[in-house]
Amino acid sequence: MATSSPSEKDQVTNAVASGVQAIQAASSSEDLKNVLSSLVGKKGELASIKATLGKVSDIEIRKQLGQLVNDALGQIQHAADARSRELLAGEFAQQIEAERVDLSELALSESVSRRRGRMHLVTQSTERLEDVFIGLGFQIAEGPEVETDFYNFEALNVPPSHPARSMWDTLFVESDVEGSVVLRTHTSPVQIRVMQEWPPPIYAVMPGRVFRKETPDATHMPVFHQIEGLVIDKGITFADLAGTIESFTKAFFGPGFTSRLRPSYFPFTEPSAEFDIRRPDGSWIELGGCGMVHPHVLRAGGLDPNEWSGFAFGFGIDRMAKERHGVADLRDMYSDDIRFTEQFS
Ligand code: DAH
Repeated sequence: MATSSPSEKDQVTNAVASGVQAIQAASSSEDLKNVLSSLVGKKGELASIKATLGKVSDIEIRKQLGQLVNDALGQIQHAADARSRELLAGEFAQQIEAERVDLSELALSESVSRRRGRMHLVTQSTERLEDVFIGLGFQIAEGPEVETDFYNFEALNVPPSHPARSMWDTLFVESDVEGSVVLRTHTSPVQIRVMQEWPPPIYAVMPGRVFRKETPDATHMPVFHQIEGLVIDKGITFADLAGTIESFTKAFFGPGFTSRLRPSYFPFTEPSAEFDIRRPDGSWIELGGCGMVHPHVLRAGGLDPNEWSGFAFGFGIDRMAKERHGVADLRDMYSDDIRFTEQFS
């Protein structure tokens, strides 16, 4: 039986050996692709051996040689596949390492310059007001922002169709009985809730959000904040009210500030007044309303006006913060721009 010449067999064996070596030496998938195409491509050694097959006249030898070359190509492909898997695994690991983002706190603190948040001006003012009133012996109370007409108006001596209702541009909430549920227009309804729930004597301040149908401008917002004060005790007089306002003024604004009361009208107090704060330079800030709690209001709160008397006051926190910090436009306070808040800490 005819066999291929040893030299051709050796040539194939050598080609496989050196090919496998080159494959092993490939340093990247890209490199391997080039190595492989030079080994199995048209210009490769095995291809040139294959090209000579046509000239082998002995059909047996031709078959054997053809088989040999095909086996050799198979071995090379096999070696290349194995090397490719190795290289890809390494390259994938490298890529993951390169794209790794260190989210640990330490790494972040080193790479990102951290900006501290700030408390909103209204929150800062509310907390300071609470501190001052707690210092004066008051407790803090809160009430709901969605109120009934009863608490927001009626219990405060503002019956339906009372002309004083026009003092507040009311936002109504849809309800079964039309007009019976409102977004509270002031914090005064919390007075009634506190009187109903706390046994007197009562020394309370009630901060919170209030709502009015207003178009926002430099001095008005449809959502703003008030703080309400209520004192109920035996033998409370207008002098106690004036003294409390004055103590608060000095404690909150500073010893160079004083207060004054001007006669005014509110349905829930009798007599009623407005109070202003005098700055050391002699200019005035109009702050809020106050007065002696009206007997109707005491009754709505479940108290006997013959036994108890008291005073109340209320003023806008946003307005006060605006005055205190010289903010020109209330809308800036709600711009959510940290550069604004950063100025006040
Ligand atoms: N609730 C009033 C308002 O929003 C302010 C006010 C006036 C509150 C007199 C009081 C008070 O407690 O006694 O306009």
